[in-house]
Amino acid sequence: KNLPDYVTEPLTDFSKEENVTAYKAALEKVKATLGTDYPLIIGGERVTTDGKITSYNPANKTQVVGTVSKSTKELAERAMQVADAKFDEWSKTPAEERAAILLRAAEITKERRHEMSAMMTLEAGKPWIEADADTAEAIDFMEYYARQMLELKDGKPVNSRDGEKNTFEYRSLGVGVIISPWNFPFAIMAGTTVAAAVAGNTVLLKPASTTPVIAYKFMEILEEAGLPAGVVNYIPGPGGEVGDYLVDHPRTRFVSFTGSRDVGLRINERASKVNEGQIWIKRVIAEMGGKDTIVVDKEADLDLAAESIVKSAFGFSGQKCSACSRAVIVEDVYDEVLEKVVKLTNDLTIGDPQDFSNFMATVIDEAAFKKITSYFDVAKEEGRIVAGGTADDSTGYFVNPTVVADVAPNARLMQEEIFGPIVAFSKAKDFNEALDIANNTEYGLTGAVISDNEDHIAQAKQDFFVGNLYINRGCTGAIVGYQPFGGYNMSGTCSKAGGPDFIGLHLQSKSISTAL
Ligand code: NAD
Ligand code: ALA
Repeated sequence: KNLPDYVTEPLTDFSKEENVTAYKAALEKVKATLGTDYPLIIGGERVTTDGKITSYNPANKTQVVGTVSKSTKELAERAMQVADAKFDEWSKTPAEERAAILLRAAEITKERRHEMSAMMTLEAGKPWIEADADTAEAIDFMEYYARQMLELKDGKPVNSRDGEKNTFEYRSLGVGVIISPWNFPFAIMAGTTVAAAVAGNTVLLKPASTTPVIAYKFMEILEEAGLPAGVVNYIPGPGGEVGDYLVDHPRTRFVSFTGSRDVGLRINERASKVNEGQIWIKRVIAEMGGKDTIVVDKEADLDLAAESIVKSAFGFSGQKCSACSRAVIVEDVYDEVLEKVVKLTNDLTIGDPQDFSNFMATVIDEAAFKKITSYFDVAKEEGRIVAGGTADDSTGYFVNPTVVADVAPNARLMQEEIFGPIVAFSKAKDFNEALDIANNTEYGLTGAVISDNEDHIAQAKQDFFVGNLYINRGCTGAIVGYQPFGGYNMSGTCSKAGGPDFIGLHLQSKSISTAL
């Protein structure tokens, strides 16, 4: 009843010595756990399998962060039965109780904040500031979705005529399969899980195979917060095997997926097929890739433009769906912006994320390293590499921030999601052409416009076809409850995580009319 209004969790101020000391201590604490073996959690029971997923530190590629039991189809089936059986009781648990568990989980996460972040520094190669923001976002999702559920718990008003009483109420859906990516291994994994659970659904959580340990740590937090056994079941496993099995399962009521375009489309297609015993149309929430553009106008603060491009392109090594991978610059200022970007890029520090002074660290794994570095040859064919273009995988998967100039709008570098620290520059003759180029991909996730021209800003608000548009700032860093996040076209179903409509996607409405 006395719940304060939602506000976003502040980021840690690392200019304060005590916070630096606390983060270092958290890193030591997490390092003492390296190599631990983690079980699956099905109905609260720990299940250990012979098959394992090994989670490595991408900055020190032979260092094992942990091994995690690997789910099989049989165990996924067992988890489905547990979640299905638990659904009736959990969906009838008062929304206040469900929300209170999320709020307690948020409190526990605040207490363990640096420990969770330090785990991501080691498991995902997240520099301190990126890891801290990931944990803050996870806290935000818990705080925000708890409140959103409370707003919906009594339904919404509808009209009643004489002689009748009408209500419009919400009911939970059923068992949800949550499939999450490694790039926000805490925030997106936790956010999509708690949104489903607070809406009264039971959950099968399949985290990304490169970051399963942080997801296990989150399961411990949910348990400590009092989440009943069986509401969220932890079943990491290979996407192709366990993912397909659960997406196809007739008792799956909905799938909430965040990840690449190709896997999202595969899930959407498979989920549309009705399998034997299935009595509903599965709902699919799919938030997918991006090929995000920063447009720079000729009337603009060019220092701001360069800083925005560099930060958005290279933060977390460009491994954000929101990352700027295309800079489209009006020709009058093209050379100047490019020069400023190259200078800032060459000043970036890159190295082990355990060292706070490094702005950038690694990419996630060997497959990502190979894919990203294969684009160096493409870059040489399609443009000029003016910064970076080098990489080193002798100890970890380090790719240097790379700027490619003079790339044609339809070139591969301007169209394909590389998901690494490579930004392509294209020249436009004027602002109209710049917007056309910005819109010429199949994606539509984020975009930014750096301009002092009010007419151009108004035009971009109307015509820049993205789910998240930013004016005079970078295109990453959406905040839960402030900038709900989700894209157009092949970027997904535009579900807007961290927005007022998100919980509703996990519910079905019921109209009840009583004759008086
Ligand atoms: P991915 O698609 O490879 O994997 C995502 C998840 O899907 C993982 O858990 C994986 O194991 C699982 N999976 C793989 N094959 C599957 C299958 N056949 N059935 C079911 N599940 C399967 O993506 P990723 O590499 O983990 O993440 C990076 C991608 O995610 C990028 O494309 C990025 O743009 C996107 N992303 C989008 C958003 C957004 O909000 N739009 C946010 C973060 C990341
Ligand atoms: N919320 C993340 C961002 O906006 C994806 O960068």
